[in-house]
Amino acid sequence: MKVLATRRYPGPAFEELKDVEIGALEPRADVEALIVANEPIDGGDFPALQLVANFGVGYDRLGVDDLARRGVAVANTPGVLDAATADLTWALILAARRRVVEGDRRVRGGEWTGSWADGFLAEELTGSTLGIVGLGRIGSAVARRAEGFDLQVLSTRRSGGTALDDLLRQSDIVTIHAPLTPETQGLLDARRLSLLHDGACLVNTARGEIVDEDALVAELVSGRLRAGLDVFAHEPHVPQELLSLPNVVLTPHLGSATRQTREAMTRIVVDNILAFERGDDLLTPVRT
Ligand code: DGY
Repeated sequence: MKVLATRRYPGPAFEELKDVEIGALEPRADVEALIVANEPIDGGDFPALQLVANFGVGYDRLGVDDLARRGVAVANTPGVLDAATADLTWALILAARRRVVEGDRRVRGGEWTGSWADGFLAEELTGSTLGIVGLGRIGSAVARRAEGFDLQVLSTRRSGGTALDDLLRQSDIVTIHAPLTPETQGLLDARRLSLLHDGACLVNTARGEIVDEDALVAELVSGRLRAGLDVFAHEPHVPQELLSLPNVVLTPHLGSATRQTREAMTRIVVDNILAFERGDDLLTPVRT
């Protein structure tokens, strides 16, 4: 099977592909399978395409409906990145809530001149309320880690759970773990952000488009909220206003960025391609 990959994906499993080429998503009549990292695909550019193996659990940019219409199968990599993404979520919660990055800047900038007892206070984590928007695999991994911090946990779910507006009103920290779909696009709009209490902290390791980014920027510029953001609406663009703000911690979409997790993602990508070549069922099909 002729495979085109948008980059060399990490880990030894990639070497098991026999006929793989690394290159851009430019029109090719011979390509039968694509490996992409949620990059948009124009199915018309690849008339022989049979399979898209997405390196990642989120496939919101691929254009899966168009691919399905063309009879192209799609696979993703669920499961293996839950721990890494939950860990990064906690890194952002702790960094934003305890002002870790601000403190680091103070030390490096020579601003730490007085006693440790002279202020620069943060809000306590223990005993606060964590609101998880989307209690799927990653949200549940975040919830399990919350037990160690003695937090009260609220969550929204596909069915049941706390109503989103109530969760936003009651939480000290809100973390987003929903997939990007037409239903979740802009879910946290200006009205919903205004439900967060002063000093609350919003963490997003899911997708930037789930939050109205302009409204969030306005809230952060006003200093009313704190945030830890790993994802943005127009990556790799990050709104200029955020770059100088002390109340937001910014990371470049690092949720799954550990060596072990990325190698496990490549393993699943390759196993899906090998299964498809053998005529077996995909291990982790995306169903539209
Ligand atoms: C995914 O898998 O969708 C993530 O965004 C990659 O970290």
